Amino acid sequence: MQNHFSSYRWRRYVPFLVFATVVAIVQLYAIAIKDPHFIKNAIQTLSNTKNRGNETLGPLHVLLVSYARTGSSFVGDLLQSVPDTFYHFEPLHFISNPVLNSSFDDARVLLNKVFNCNVSSIKGYLPWIQLHKEYMKLKRSLNYWKECSKKKKNLCFNASFVDSTCRKHKTVIVKTIRLKLREASELFLTHPNLNLKIIYLMRDPRGSINSRMKFPVSMWCKKDPMCSNPKYYCDSLAEDMKVACGLLKDRPEDFLIIRYEDLALDPFGTTDRLVKFLGMPSMPRDVEIFLKTHTSVIGSVREKYRTQGVDYAYSTFRNSSITAMSWRQQMSFKRVTQLQNYCQTTLTGMGYYPYYTVSNLRSNVNFDKNNDDAIRSYCSAN
Ligand SMILES: *[C@@H]1O[C@H](CO)[C@@H](O)[C@H](O)[C@H]1NC(C)=O
Ligand SMILES: *[C@@H]1O[C@H](CO)[C@@H](O)[C@H](O)[C@H]1NC(C)=O
Ligand SMILES: *[C@@H]1O[C@H](CO)[C@@H](O)[C@H](O)[C@H]1NC(C)=O
Ligand SMILES: *[C@@H]1O[C@H](CO)[C@@H](O)[C@H](O)[C@H]1NC(C)=O
Ligand SMILES: *[C@@H]1O[C@H](CO)[C@@H](O)[C@H](O)[C@H]1NC(C)=O
Repeated sequence: MQNHFSSYRWRRYVPFLVFATVVAIVQLYAIAIKDPHFIKNAIQTLSNTKNRGNETLGPLHVLLVSYARTGSSFVGDLLQSVPDTFYHFEPLHFISNPVLNSSFDDARVLLNKVFNCNVSSIKGYLPWIQLHKEYMKLKRSLNYWKECSKKKKNLCFNASFVDSTCRKHKTVIVKTIRLKLREASELFLTHPNLNLKIIYLMRDPRGSINSRMKFPVSMWCKKDPMCSNPKYYCDSLAEDMKVACGLLKDRPEDFLIIRYEDLALDPFGTTDRLVKFLGMPSMPRDVEIFLKTHTSVIGSVREKYRTQGVDYAYSTFRNSSITAMSWRQQMSFKRVTQLQNYCQTTLTGMGYYPYYTVSNLRSNVNFDKNNDDAIRSYCSAN
């Protein structure tokens, strides 16, 4: 009676199994009460690990290329809300502000080191960051700051700790407003070992120029023609358009154009494109939470942000649809007409329509919802 015997033995363990199951359920319940997203996150982490697959390529390097007052801090924060990322905020500020023609090679060398989690080999970089705490280079790397603050405070400014933390992550992100697209995209050629993807963030130049006229941005903006001289800025954007057409043709998998207005009006749809471009099958939960909490003004968030030492002008908490469009109520029609002349190429290529009457300016959004079509037809005609 072998069968009878073994089933009898099995039954002896039933009380223990029941006990263990109850303990496990109680534990899980306690965790789930503390962190309602725990189970969902755990499942997501497992599926992300499964989806990694082609790990031979090593970490992904994402460069966000943009200009002053285009929403680049917002997009930077959106990108660093993706799990398992390390974010570098404006490392090129270290070279000079703005980065001059003679320094583009240095800029690319520096970016290569930053992407390779090798800031300890950049002479003077961390001491400079520590000396200029007001720029908050590391504080704006939110995950890192959380991590290093848990330990001794001065560990945050320890280059080898920055590097070792950076190396633990699957994706390294750099944001810059200090390189034009041509200089940035040359990284593909000068540093082919990088596993590089470039995101080019565009905003209607009429909107970003309007925003630059305001204090405190206007203070530093004066020193940089890219920021303060609309003619110079528009000419540079037109040059970017040519480069962008080439990249869209040659490297469609490594180059993406995102418009700030699309993000403001349709944060979820636009972010979906962004995460797909980065190779994720669906929008991570953390990114969804970021969008829900950062694309609208909530209560006294502005005050709260200020007490953390961040000037509201640079904060990413705002009603994004108001901010994106407010220039239309603020700028004189004459000024708008002038900028439309300077920036004609970019407006056409990026699907921003010109305004010919004041009433249209004040009341119509008037940009092409399908940016891809606008760019494609611009590129094929030029
Ligand atoms: C690597 O990627 C290629 C192309 O996307 C795919 O066909 C292949 O199955 C992947 N390999 C692994 C191990 O996931
Ligand atoms: C930088 O170089 C470009 C082209 O090489 C030139 O048109 C531009 O005037 C230069 N800018 C400065 C500030 O030297
Ligand atoms: C960091 O950069 C230095 C100097 O360029 C180089 O010798 C070293 O191999 C780099 N380390 C890593 C881990 O890339
Ligand atoms: C910096 O951090 C490393 C570990 O990441 C540690 O070995 C080293 O002693 C630290 N240096 C200082 C000056 O604290
Ligand atoms: C943001 O502003 C728009 C336009 O006025 C408005 O429709 C929307 O409800 C606002 N969103 C929030 C969350 O306040």
